[in-house]
Amino acid sequence: MDARKVILSEDELPRQWYNILADIKLNPPLGPDGKPVSPDALAPVFPMNLIEQEVSTQRWIDIPEEVLGVLRIWRPSPLVRAVNLERKLQTPARIYYKNESVSPPGSHKPNTAVAQAYYNKAFGIQRMTTETGAGQWGSALSFACSQFGIECKVFMVRISFDQKPYRKSMMQAWGGTCIPSPSTETQAGRAALAKDPNTPGSLGIAISEAIEAAVSDKTGKTRYSLGSVLNHVMLHQTIIGLEAQKQMKMIGEYPDIVIGCAGGGSNFAGLAFPFVYDAFNGKKIDIYPVEPAACPTMTKAPFVYDHGDTARYTPLLPMHSLGHAFIPPPIHAGGLRYHGMSPTVSQLITEGIIQPRAVTQTQAYKAGVAFARTEGILPAPETNHALAVAIAEAEKAAQEGKQKVILLNLSGHGLLDLAAYDKYFAHGLEDLELSDEQIQASEKVFENFPKPQRLKSR
Ligand SMILES: Cc1ncc(COP(=O)(O)O)c(C=O)c1O
Repeated sequence: MDARKVILSEDELPRQWYNILADIKLNPPLGPDGKPVSPDALAPVFPMNLIEQEVSTQRWIDIPEEVLGVLRIWRPSPLVRAVNLERKLQTPARIYYKNESVSPPGSHKPNTAVAQAYYNKAFGIQRMTTETGAGQWGSALSFACSQFGIECKVFMVRISFDQKPYRKSMMQAWGGTCIPSPSTETQAGRAALAKDPNTPGSLGIAISEAIEAAVSDKTGKTRYSLGSVLNHVMLHQTIIGLEAQKQMKMIGEYPDIVIGCAGGGSNFAGLAFPFVYDAFNGKKIDIYPVEPAACPTMTKAPFVYDHGDTARYTPLLPMHSLGHAFIPPPIHAGGLRYHGMSPTVSQLITEGIIQPRAVTQTQAYKAGVAFARTEGILPAPETNHALAVAIAEAEKAAQEGKQKVILLNLSGHGLLDLAAYDKYFAHGLEDLELSDEQIQASEKVFENFPKPQRLKSR
């Protein structure tokens, strides 16, 4: 009988993360003077042990035992073959999903939250601040902080705070504090409210608030944590792809196509980067990060230097960006409403190593419901974007009569996203697509910034 579910034992948990910075070239982050930022300049924001990891070019980095100890609560995560979905699609393709929804907060996010909480604790930090879009990241960091005895404060994008009240309860259960952003607690929040008191908020604004809250704490015992975008976050997530490689090998399979949804890029990178490493070493794989058509950072925005947040507290990062002041339309996949993209994912796009795709909100929910009705799991709205492309590829394989092996990341479940599903069932979701004029207008903010070089890694 063909494998339905591939389970690794705890002993087989990967002991090292894969650092893609050993294999690609990146433009450096720049400070306000246009010069590369020194690691010391980031010291008020992040603990030095994580800053060192951010700039490391060592290919394999040991995962501390304390981190593995917490990850073992749910890892290794299952690799599952979506047999019922394949049957429904009448496709010769074999579809596998890596089920990251089995973590306590329900997504891939704790893979890095646990590592970050550990490194902060090791550096003597007592409080962490962060932003959250959909609420998954805020829950993950609250959970991780509770494991290491650290306080956690989360600025949650207003639109998601209103749409998903139970995420706040979850954070509270783990001892975290969650407030809607923009808030009146920070200058960045007050400025955003003065501009538009009814703003739905954005990840860019919430990041500004969380950074400000960390650096303005006079005790020096608070640091900020980012749930995506940065190199060390991508690094921690590679445990997903490293496990998946072992699992596929166990059943004698190898993917032709690897797919993940991408907001800041972390779950996609986590699954895909170990396969990108294989691609560097001669394997032929199609690798697709998927975004919403309403926030088309990778498919329509240029590769530029831009800030990671609205108040421009972060260094200039080399990335695809819609402009740091961009407020994405209030689509329900809150975790995909980000103006930028991880520099590492952006670099791979500019080099043509991975090919971004965009899908509309209704395409995404249609795919999520098809998955729920066949495989049983109700996916997170973000995850639905990856599923939409996986289904499209499986249908294409059926038309062409090809036995493709498709691997996708089931980044989270949608059990706290039911209001969005309700709207979809009531035909209440709009398919918003940005016009070229809207995109050009939002890109004015980085017109005068330095331009990144077109680097070629190999
Ligand atoms: C379930 C889920 N998937 C995907 C994402 C997108 O983030 P990233 O691109 O960093 O994986 C989020 C973000 O909140 C999320 O909650």
